[in-house]
Amino acid sequence: MHRTHTCNQLTEENIGQEVTLCGWVHRRRDHGGVIFVDIRDRYGVTQTVSDPELYADAHNILNTVRSEYVVKVTGKVQARPAGNENASMNSGKIEVLISEMEILNESKTPPFEIDQDKEVGEDVRLTYRYLDLRRNRLKNNIVLRHEVIKHIRNYLDSVNFVEVETPILIKGTPEGSREFLVPARLHPGTFYVLPQSPQQLKQLLMVAGFDRYFQIARCFRDEDQRGDRQPEFTQLDMEMSFVEMEDIMKVNEELLLQVVKKFVPHKKILAEPIPVMTYHEALNRYGVDAPDIRFGLELTDVSELVKDADFSVFKSAIEAGGVVKALKVDGGAQFSRKDIDDFTEVAKIYGAKGLAYIVVEENELRSPIVKFFTKEQLDSILAHTGAKVGDIIFFSADRFGIACESLGRVRLAVGRKLGLMDDEIFAFCWVKDFPMFEKDYETGALAAVHHPFTAPHSLSDLDTPETALAKAYDIVLNGVEIGGGSIRIHERDVQKRIFEILGISDEDADRRFGHILRAFEYGAPPHGGIAWGLDRLIMIFANEPNIREVIAFPKDQKAKDLMLGAPSQMPNDQVEELHIKVDVKE
Ligand code: AMO
Ligand code: AMP
Repeated sequence: MHRTHTCNQLTEENIGQEVTLCGWVHRRRDHGGVIFVDIRDRYGVTQTVSDPELYADAHNILNTVRSEYVVKVTGKVQARPAGNENASMNSGKIEVLISEMEILNESKTPPFEIDQDKEVGEDVRLTYRYLDLRRNRLKNNIVLRHEVIKHIRNYLDSVNFVEVETPILIKGTPEGSREFLVPARLHPGTFYVLPQSPQQLKQLLMVAGFDRYFQIARCFRDEDQRGDRQPEFTQLDMEMSFVEMEDIMKVNEELLLQVVKKFVPHKKILAEPIPVMTYHEALNRYGVDAPDIRFGLELTDVSELVKDADFSVFKSAIEAGGVVKALKVDGGAQFSRKDIDDFTEVAKIYGAKGLAYIVVEENELRSPIVKFFTKEQLDSILAHTGAKVGDIIFFSADRFGIACESLGRVRLAVGRKLGLMDDEIFAFCWVKDFPMFEKDYETGALAAVHHPFTAPHSLSDLDTPETALAKAYDIVLNGVEIGGGSIRIHERDVQKRIFEILGISDEDADRRFGHILRAFEYGAPPHGGIAWGLDRLIMIFANEPNIREVIAFPKDQKAKDLMLGAPSQMPNDQVEELHIKVDVKE
């Protein structure tokens, strides 16, 4: 061992002892004659000091060190002079008087200061990730991540789950995202696929009798990047046999609340047990399927009240089978013209054709649309929404999905603008009973909302696929979907029927999922499971704005690894060996 202690270990109890510390030069102060150097390692910082009279050699070496040099110092622990203590540091009452000093390695001047929490451009941080990881923010996040995962492993082990590693080189998984392909050198023209999740393999483990499986699983999805998405990310993946929806939710709720209480005890859990709502209710009340219920501002439906008004926008939406949703915002009369334009842009991103509004002022209703309504209609809208002087009401008219989502997104923008999202509150909710399928309004084709292995509420539901509900659930925290799962189909015929509804031919189903269909012929137990997005959970625990901050070596927003320089071109012979021709068109 090079060292006797770490840099967060020494206290007054060690005064008088000779110790050896190793670490990085964190900060160096020259006090004309005496030099103070803070030495840092993963655990913390210890102040060291030279004495040019007593230990001239050590002092001279100390004189040459610069930020981030790696050093080894030996000396006696002494009390800091009165008035120089630092109560915020564990080792804040002592310092080490250096008698021997060795530079283990030098360092160039780092591209940003490690000893400060200053904002640094993300590209630089990602390029020099190993330096950024020396800073407290990332270091603490990575340690938190480790601790949370360790707790999860121990808990699941204690309730009989077995962790099983499933392969990374597999065959295509139909979970909705574009997949990463790996050319198979030994089998020209063929590819492995990286798993979007271990979905099929964990179901096969249920067929194999491992009735409680989990895995801290790396998943790969070639998606467009966003703050809460990465091309590779980590799930807590689990699957259980002989269970209903409620059983899976219960195990997960127990574990989830446990980790919150243990690792972020200062967060106030809004409601326990975690409230459950249906997908329809989530959309109807909050406009989105992952509602942020830290604040109210619920949507209401005013279709009945406005259906006879002389406003063609509302009328035609209702006549086409759609709805008019309203969002009343207390105090919203203060929004400027520009605020309202911004909210309208948000609504449009989510498919709305516009965002009508009524501002309730002392003596009038300020609005481009009041002229289309009778006094009675306006009164009924105010009464229904509970709007009073100083409030604004927004409206979105469209088919149910678009009207809800566009106004739901406006609700979130309003909540953000008004500072209604309190990071100290943890508002969990379960959202269940998702539709089985969603329709592509352009092609008319149906796609699985969760994935095609999800069980319907009842088999008769499948006679009318467009309204069929799934035994599927998501767990949501502060408006972020942190996990999702379902009860699976375990019968071959039902699985085939789903493939049919999805327009997958028998031949195709056999080619792509023959392994599942075959396995279901050998005694598949009823089963179901869930996967948590671990990066997202830790991101919220750590109050971070995106998941890159809780991943040691993440990709940037264009899916590049700036540190490694990946993806990169490969030598021709290596590519040819894979029976691949690169033909990039500019
Ligand atoms: P799903 O696709 O909903 O379900 O994924 C589960 C959870 O993983 C997280 N997540 C992501 N996190 C970071 N980056 C991404 N690109 C990303 N994509 C998803 C989300 C999500 O809730 N096999 C099923 C689970 C099951 O049915 O058991 C699945 O993967 O938090
Ligand atoms: P227009 O008659 O198109 O000028 O629209 C009058 C108001 O209604 C404007 O404030 C629009 O933003 C709004 N509007 C238009 N289409 C919709 C819609 N589908 N839902 C809600 N408001 C709308």
